[in-house]
Amino acid sequence: MAAKFKAPRGTFDVLPEQQPVRRRIERTAREMLEAAGYGRIDTPVFEDTELFARSVGESTDIVQKQMFTFEDQGGRSLTLRPEATASLCRAYLEHGMHKRAQPVKLWASGPFFRHERPQAGRYRQFSQIDVEVIGSDSPLVDAELIVLLHDLLAELGVEGVRLRLGSLGSPGARLAYLEELRAYLRSHERDLSKEVRERIEVNPLRAFDADHEGTRKVMAEAPTMLDHLGDEDAEHFATVRKLLEREGVAYDLDPTLVRGLDYYTRTVFEFECERLGTQSGLGGGGRYDGLIEQLGGQPTPANGWALGVERVALALGEEGRAPAALVFIVAEGEARDRALALATELRRAGLAADLDLGDRAVKGQMKQADRVGARYALILEDGGAPVLRDMRSGEQREIEPGRLAEELMRGRSEDARGLREEPPVS
Ligand code: HAM
Repeated sequence: MAAKFKAPRGTFDVLPEQQPVRRRIERTAREMLEAAGYGRIDTPVFEDTELFARSVGESTDIVQKQMFTFEDQGGRSLTLRPEATASLCRAYLEHGMHKRAQPVKLWASGPFFRHERPQAGRYRQFSQIDVEVIGSDSPLVDAELIVLLHDLLAELGVEGVRLRLGSLGSPGARLAYLEELRAYLRSHERDLSKEVRERIEVNPLRAFDADHEGTRKVMAEAPTMLDHLGDEDAEHFATVRKLLEREGVAYDLDPTLVRGLDYYTRTVFEFECERLGTQSGLGGGGRYDGLIEQLGGQPTPANGWALGVERVALALGEEGRAPAALVFIVAEGEARDRALALATELRRAGLAADLDLGDRAVKGQMKQADRVGARYALILEDGGAPVLRDMRSGEQREIEPGRLAEELMRGRSEDARGLREEPPVS
C-alpha cells in the first residue's frame, strides 16, 4: 500500500542507520570547537522576519524568495531561520555580551529552512554547524576560523576539498568599486543575460555567478574587488593569507567570490568538495564588520562560518548502521522476566543492553542479536548459569552473574555502543 503521507517536499527523515555519520560530524565539531574556546548557544528556530530582512539583506535570494514566513496569532510576522548569524548577533545584543571579554566565541547547530528548489544536497530543511566570533577585527580571527573549518573537514576525512578565499574590502571601497562595476556592466549591457541586466542596479556582483555565455565573457574582463581594496583592507587580507600559509592551509585566491548574503565585509571564504556536483559548497563564511551596528549595537567587528551537515555526510558517503547494543539478552520461558530485570540493571549501570521484545524462539533471538549487531549475546536458561557468547568469535562460556558488567566492559568496542552515549548535539 502506498503511504498516504510523505515528508514535505525538500525535507527528509533521518533514519536510525543514517544517524551515526551525522552524530560523528556533530561530535567531532563539538569537541574541536569547545577545545578552541567556543561556547555553545541555542536560539529559537524562528525569529522576527525583520531581523533576517535587515541582516541577510532585502535584495538577496534568501530574503526575496526563500523564507518560510508566517504570521502568528498576534499578527506578528515570524520566519523560520534561514541561517544562524543574524540570530547569534541578535542574542549577542540582547544579552549585553559586549560587556564580556571580547571577542565572544560562539557555536550553534540545528535545523535551518530555505524554500529552495530541492535537488541532491539542497533541501528546504537542512542542518548547519555555525561558528561566530564577535568583537575583534584581528586577522588572527579570520585565520583561526578558516584553520578550524579546514581541520574539521580533514579530521572527518572529507576528500577533494578546495578552499576559495577572497576579500570584499570595507564598505566605502566596496561602494566605489560597485559603482565602477555597474558602469562597466552598463557599457557591456548588450552582451549580458536579461537577468543580470535587470540586476545591475540592485546587485551587480551577481553577474560573476552567471552561467550565461555572453555574461561570462564580459565578466572575465570585469574589474574585481581585490584590485580595489583600500590600504588597510589590503594589509588585513595579506596578513590573513600569510597566517593561512603558515598553518599549511592551501587556498585558491578568488577575486570574484560572491556569497549569497549581504552582510559580508573584508575576508570571505568557501570550502567546496569536488564530489558534490552542482551543490558543491560544504561551508563558508566571512567577516561582517557592520552587522552588529546595523542591528542597533555599537560598531563591532565579527566573523564566522557555517558548515552544511548533509553536504558533509554526502561527501563522506559513509554506509550507515544503527548503533548496536553491547549485549543482547536471549531468554526463554521463565527466564524472560529475568531478561528484562537484567537489561534494566545493566542499563542503570550505563551499559547498552537490549532484549527480545518480539516473543521469538531462542534461535530467532540469536538471529536478532546478530541482526542488531550486538557484540555479545547473554543466554539465560531456566535454572542454569548465564552463558556469554562472543558474537564475533562464536566462543561461549558460563559466567558468574556478579562479574557480568566487568566482562562486558572488556569487550566494549567502537562499533558496539558500550556505555550510554550523551545525546547528540543537534
Ligand atoms: P551559507 O553559505 O548560506 O552561509 O550556508 C552555509 C552552508 O550551509 C552551505 O555551504 C551549505 O553547505 C549549507 N546549506 C545552505 N543552504 C542549504 C540547503 N538549502 N540545503 C542544504 N545545505 C544548505 C550561511 O548560512 C552563513 N550564515 C555563514 C556565516 C556564518 N557567515 C558568517 N557567519
